[in-house]
Amino acid sequence: MQVITTASEMQYACRALKNNRTLGFVPTMGALHDGHLSLVHRALSECAAVAASIFVNPTQFAAGEDYDVYPRTFDADCAKLEAAGVSLLFAPSATEMYPPGATTFVEVASIGDRLDGASRPGHFRGVATVIAKLFNIVGPDRAYFGQKDAAQIAVLRAMIRDLNFPVQLIACPIVREPGGLAMSSRNRNLSADDRRRALILHHALRAACKLLQTGETNAEALSSAILTAFANDPHVRLDYAAIVDPATLLPVSDTAHGALIAVAAWVGSTRLIDNLLTENLPIDSLLIDNLLLEAPHV
Ligand code: PAJ
Repeated sequence: MQVITTASEMQYACRALKNNRTLGFVPTMGALHDGHLSLVHRALSECAAVAASIFVNPTQFAAGEDYDVYPRTFDADCAKLEAAGVSLLFAPSATEMYPPGATTFVEVASIGDRLDGASRPGHFRGVATVIAKLFNIVGPDRAYFGQKDAAQIAVLRAMIRDLNFPVQLIACPIVREPGGLAMSSRNRNLSADDRRRALILHHALRAACKLLQTGETNAEALSSAILTAFANDPHVRLDYAAIVDPATLLPVSDTAHGALIAVAAWVGSTRLIDNLLTENLPIDSLLIDNLLLEAPHV
């Protein structure tokens, strides 16, 4: 695996690697876990060659957020990507990506201000900008993203459509730890107590899932099951529990035609997110087993 730190070298290397074949791309912020690696494996299974990036993108963190304490495990990450079979790794510095004087940003209006975009103003402007830049540098045919960041997928799908990027976005299922906690680089920052408390996100979604399986589609009823689950632990502060259209991120009153049920919560000083897509419930047994790990036959 070749590790490249400048945009111009990466552009050149990607063009050579691609050579009329399908190039897959997995952008990350590092501190890699099995969720990230599931994207890499999927990309390798569908593309002739795969490039990845590791860049803790400062523009998607607001002042006072966890940019400084975001976990960084570069050497271990390189070893994992190399062992998986990634050909090129782009790992630029912040000044390589944002040289002094850089003033161009990509803003996905409306969608980018919903869910995490509402809680973290400017977050999706940073995400859309860095992904647009990475797409221009790598030139992938297919880019792989995790369903864990469902709002991010909605924002990037809109950006790809609106700016005519010749890229197919592939959304991959959420990978969970054995207890059900969605894998996240930020889980490394949880204390043992917080890690236990963090399961509440999974439990709340499971409560909604159980109701869905009884045929309940009313968003208020589903929301109230989620809120009840969060009311059980005063140490966990719910940021949002939302039942929305997965493409527009606008609230829906009924889930019968498919909905994204998403939660975000503060566990100690760490903000975690999780979600489920109702349309996956009947057809994607892997996802439902994943979500209902402790009660697979509910
Ligand atoms: P990061 O949080 O490192 O995640 C990189 C990719 O891995 C994202 O597409 C994310 O959805 C996916 N991912 C994370 N946890 C996952 C899990 N448990 N199961 C499946 N996929 C998972 O998301 C970002 O970085 C950044 O915003 C980025 C897109 C790289 C732009 O800076």
